[in-house]
Amino acid sequence: MMDLWHTLVSILFILAPVFLYHNVALRSTSAEPPLIKGRLPFIGVALNFVSDPQPLLEKMRAKLGWIYTLYLGGRRMTIVSDPVLGIRQVYSQGRIFDAGEFFRYLNIKLFNYTERINSNSEFQEALVRHVITYLSSPANIDAIAKDLQAEYRVLVDENSPFCNDDYTLQNGTTVDLYGFARKTMYVSAAYAVFGKSFPADSLYRNYINFEDSLLRFIKGYPYVFNRSGQDARKAVLADLGDFFIDQEKASRSSPFITGISALFDKFGYMTREDLSGYFLSIVFASKSNSIPIAFWYLAFIVHDPEFKAEIIELIKKNYVKETKDFDWKALYSDPLLNSAFKETTRLASNITSGRAITRDAMIKVADSKDRTKSKEYYLRKGDSVLILSSLTHWDPDAFPDPMAWHARRFLPDSSSSSNPLVPHEHADKDTKEPQWRAYIPWGGGGHMCPGRHLAIVEAVTQLVYMLWYFDIEPVSKTVPKMKVGENYGGGVLKPASAYTVKIRRRSEPLVS
Ligand code: HEM
Ligand SMILES: *[C@@H]1O[C@H](CO)[C@@H](O)[C@H](O)[C@H]1NC(C)=O
Ligand SMILES: *[C@@H]1O[C@H](CO)[C@@H](O)[C@H](O)[C@H]1NC(C)=O
Ligand SMILES: *[C@@H]1O[C@H](CO)[C@@H](O)[C@H](O)[C@H]1NC(C)=O
Ligand SMILES: *[C@@H]1O[C@H](CO)[C@@H](O)[C@H](O)[C@H]1NC(C)=O
Repeated sequence: MMDLWHTLVSILFILAPVFLYHNVALRSTSAEPPLIKGRLPFIGVALNFVSDPQPLLEKMRAKLGWIYTLYLGGRRMTIVSDPVLGIRQVYSQGRIFDAGEFFRYLNIKLFNYTERINSNSEFQEALVRHVITYLSSPANIDAIAKDLQAEYRVLVDENSPFCNDDYTLQNGTTVDLYGFARKTMYVSAAYAVFGKSFPADSLYRNYINFEDSLLRFIKGYPYVFNRSGQDARKAVLADLGDFFIDQEKASRSSPFITGISALFDKFGYMTREDLSGYFLSIVFASKSNSIPIAFWYLAFIVHDPEFKAEIIELIKKNYVKETKDFDWKALYSDPLLNSAFKETTRLASNITSGRAITRDAMIKVADSKDRTKSKEYYLRKGDSVLILSSLTHWDPDAFPDPMAWHARRFLPDSSSSSNPLVPHEHADKDTKEPQWRAYIPWGGGGHMCPGRHLAIVEAVTQLVYMLWYFDIEPVSKTVPKMKVGENYGGGVLKPASAYTVKIRRRSEPLVS
C-alpha cells in the first residue's frame, strides 16, 4: 500500500529547479553510482519529470545502466533496476534499506494516523506481524475465500437486488465493467475480510472519492484544492471511528479485525482517532490494488474470445454437480488462471518501493551490458533507494513484448528452462547468471504485500461468477488504456476510460 510514498518524489521534482541554483560542489566518487546532478539543461527535463518521470528514467538506464542516483532538491535518490543482483539486496537487507520512513510519511499524509501510534515502532511491528501471520495462513485464506464466494454470489445471482434494481441488468444491458466490478468486488471483499457488521456499503462512495484524490493528499494540496477529497476522507474516518469505537459492533467483525482491535487494546490505543487512521490504511491496502487487478483480469479475459471460451470450459470442468458448487481449490491453484493473474499484475501494476539507507553500505550491481560482470557501489546513509516496477515489468529484456497481455506467459514450462516470454525466469547454467528478480508487484522483503494470496482469490472468484452467470461481450473495441501518471508509480493502474460490455444473464446455467 505504501508504495505511493514516492510521489513525494514529484514534490521534490517541483522544487528541484530552485535547489539546483545552490549548485553545491557535488560529484559522485568513482565508487558511487553515477550522479545525475541536474545542471541548467536538466531543468527542462525536471519539468517533464513532474508530469511523467518514466521516459527520463528509461533514458538514464539505457545510458548509465542498472544503478544511478538523481540529485533532487537536496536529496539523493538512487534508482536500482538491476534484476540480477541489486533488487534482491535492497529487498532482503531490510535493516540497511528501511521501508519504515516512507510508510510513516504516508500514514500521516494519507490516513491521518495519530502521531503516537505512528511513532511507536514496537506497536507498528506488532500490527505488521499480526497482518502477515493472519494472511499467510492457508486456513484463514480458505475461510475468507468461502465468505467471499457467498458474498459475491448474492451480488450477481438471479435474485440480486444489485443487478436487478441498481443496475437493471436485462437481456443485453451495456455497462461499464469497471464500475460494475469495482462495486461488487469492494462490497463482497469488505464483508469477507472485515466481517458482515462492517459498514461497507455506506462507506463506498466516500471511500472511492478519497481513493481517487490520493495524489492530492500525497502532494499535500491545501484544502481548497481538494475539498471533495478531504471531505470524503473526513467522512470515512468518522464512520470508521464510529464503528471501531463501538465495542458491540466491532466485536462482530471478522477474526482478522478483532485480532487487530485486541492489539490496540493491549497497547492502550483505543481512541477514535487511533483506530480510524489505522483502519483507513487497512481498507486502502486491501482495496486500492486488488479491485483494479480483479477488473483487469476479467477485462483481458473477456476481451479475448478464444481464451474466454477456454476459461469457460475450465470453469465448467470445475463445477461439482453433487455439491452444486465449484472446486475452488482447483480453480485457485489452476496453472493457467495463475499465469493469467501473474501476467495481469505484471502489466497493470506500477509499483514503487522506497527505502531509506540507514547506514553507509555497499551494493553489488550487475553490468547491464555484460551481466556476468558486476561492480560494488557505495551508498550513503541518509539517502534513499527506489525500485520501480515500471523499469522491470515493462523491460523487453525481462519480458519480451512487454506491453501486451499474454495469458500463458507465466505457465510453468517444464520441458525447457527458456520460456521466450520470460527468458530469465530460471537461472542460466551457461552464463551462471541467476534467475532474474524482475517480477515485483508485491514489493519485497519484510514489507512484501501480505495480501498477495488473497488477491488471486478475489480475482478468480469474480471471474468465475461473472462468467458463470453472464454472457459478457465487449462493446469497446479495445481494453481501456491504463491511466498514465495519475497513479504515478503508486500501485495498480486504473482504466483511463470506461470498458463497455454487453452483459446478458444466462438463461441456463453453464452446466445443464
Ligand atoms: C493485486 C493486488 C495487490 C497489490 C499489487 C499489492 C501490492 C502491495 C505492495 C507493492 C506493497 C508494499 C510492499 C513494499 O513496500 O515492499 C503492499 C503492502 C501491503 N499490502 Fe498489498 N497489494 C495487493 C493486495 C492486497 C490485499 C488484498 C491486501 C489485504 C488484505 C493487502 C494488504 C497489504 C498490507 C497490509 C501491506 C503493508 C505491509 C506492511 O506494512 O509491511 N494488499 N501491497
Ligand atoms: C435475449 O436476447 C437474445 C438475442 O438478442 C435472444 O435470442 C433471447 O431470446 C433473449 N432472451 C430473453 C429472455 O429475452
Ligand atoms: C479534489 O480531488 C478530486 C479527485 O481528484 C477531484 O474530483 C476534485 O474535483 C478535487 N477538487 C476539489 C475542489 O475538491
Ligand atoms: C486527524 O486526526 C486528528 C487527531 O490526531 C483530528 O484532530 C483530526 O480531526 C483528524 N482529521 C480528520 C480529517 O479526521
Ligand atoms: C508509472 O510510474 C512512473 C513513475 O515511477 C510514471 O512516470 C509513469 O507515468 C507511470 N506509468 C503509468 C502508465 O502510469
